[in-house]
Amino acid sequence: EDEGEKTLRSPICCIMGHVDTGKTKLLDCIRRTNVQEGEAGGITQQIGATYIPAENIRERTKELKADAVLNVPGLLVIDTPGHESFKNLRSRGSGLCDIAILVVDIMHGLEPQTIESLNLLRMRNTEFIVALNKVDRLYGWKTCKNAPIGKAMKLQSKDVQLEFEHRTTQIIIEFKEQGINTELYNKNKDRGETYSIVPTSAISGEGIPEMLLLLVQWAQKTMIEKLTYSSDIQCTVLEVKVIEGLGTTIDVVLVNGVLHEGDAIVVCGYQGRIHTTIRSLLTPHPMKELRVKGAYIHHKEIKAAQGIKITARNLEHAVAGTALYVVGPDDDVEEIKESVMDDMRNVMSRIDKSGEGVYVQASTLGSLEALLEFLKTPAVNIPVSGIGIGPVHKKDVMKASVMLEKRKEYATILAFDVKVTPEARDLADDLGVKIFISDIIYHLFDQFKAYIDNLKE
Ligand code: GTP
Ligand code: MG
Ligand code: NA
Repeated sequence: EDEGEKTLRSPICCIMGHVDTGKTKLLDCIRRTNVQEGEAGGITQQIGATYIPAENIRERTKELKADAVLNVPGLLVIDTPGHESFKNLRSRGSGLCDIAILVVDIMHGLEPQTIESLNLLRMRNTEFIVALNKVDRLYGWKTCKNAPIGKAMKLQSKDVQLEFEHRTTQIIIEFKEQGINTELYNKNKDRGETYSIVPTSAISGEGIPEMLLLLVQWAQKTMIEKLTYSSDIQCTVLEVKVIEGLGTTIDVVLVNGVLHEGDAIVVCGYQGRIHTTIRSLLTPHPMKELRVKGAYIHHKEIKAAQGIKITARNLEHAVAGTALYVVGPDDDVEEIKESVMDDMRNVMSRIDKSGEGVYVQASTLGSLEALLEFLKTPAVNIPVSGIGIGPVHKKDVMKASVMLEKRKEYATILAFDVKVTPEARDLADDLGVKIFISDIIYHLFDQFKAYIDNLKE
């Protein structure tokens, strides 16, 4: 690389907002994928990452005739869930990003998790743009597939334009009530003080060109320092997942630096620090979602910014949301150990275990945290005595069976998005341990509640 000339890394952009505003669908529209329709219950329950190369952004924005200004390699987009139980993942996503898209449904305006997301972004001083999504639902909307919104808007009838103006004005007022100035992107003369609103449709693609261009231009204009590539490794564990054929893997976001196959790494573990070696570095193809199982590309080394799946030994107890460290030849391992333990204390304080309660099992640490959070909410209020990640095995049934003597109704496993092995199923039947399975977080509560109500009769 040229000395003196600064290389920029890809900006990391988090997509946030209330449930079902169209976050995943907007990404599907950009990627030309169909991730959203494959989601259980149509809701996002994991955090994801997608790399969008500059050439794709150039292609999608070429009608705007602004390609000359693209000088970042691409954009790394982090998808987050909007369902209220997943605040931990929204927080994790917003903590990582350089810039964000806050998605608002034009038919609904600001909703509870819009405001929660807004507060997370404000807390960290993160720049964002507002995608005012689902404009195609305005009565009488004329579809202009993938067109710039400026062009599409001119083709609409007077009635559609009036309804659009009316709803947008109302939403600008709702933002003002939250202490935030917003304005339509093409009227915004005061960027920096006033956040830009881009109308979009994730179904027919209007406004996607402006949304992409605005994001990249704004990042390049105001964040040069932050986006200047640094070789100091900055890497966060997004999720810990068991993948058939790969074992326990970690999905990470590499913000800065280079990772190599064979690097010695230290990550935070529930049972102490984990010192291991990178076996393989995998990424999905560009424009594909990291959280969706698919064909992976193997890399000998990989440079930031990227979303990466790492395979290595001993990752079973790794803690999502914590930093990954690479131990270089001159590094002080003791110092690294100390930093790892700091992260650990942070995460453990979010998970509490009481003496009596149900056993909870989930597919990833992120979803486990979300499930614990959900079970703690006053309306639900189910105590938890034990936790596990991955499929339900006999040992989990054994642990849950301890409650048979104390509180029979708690001799129950709430299994979220995981399989139960046949041996575990047989043992549970023998012992009288109940197992409830669902891939939708709140259905577990409904099943458990029906069971408890039944017991009381
Ligand atoms: P969570 O991740 O669960 O918070 O939801 P989300 O914000 O990712 O929304 P999602 O992409 O799952 O979309 C929710 C529903 O709205 C789906 O049925 C989509 O097809 C629909 N939808 C999303 N965007 C649009 C849009 O621009 N226009 C219309 N008409 N429907 C949309
Ligand atoms: Mg989603
Ligand atoms: Na959804």
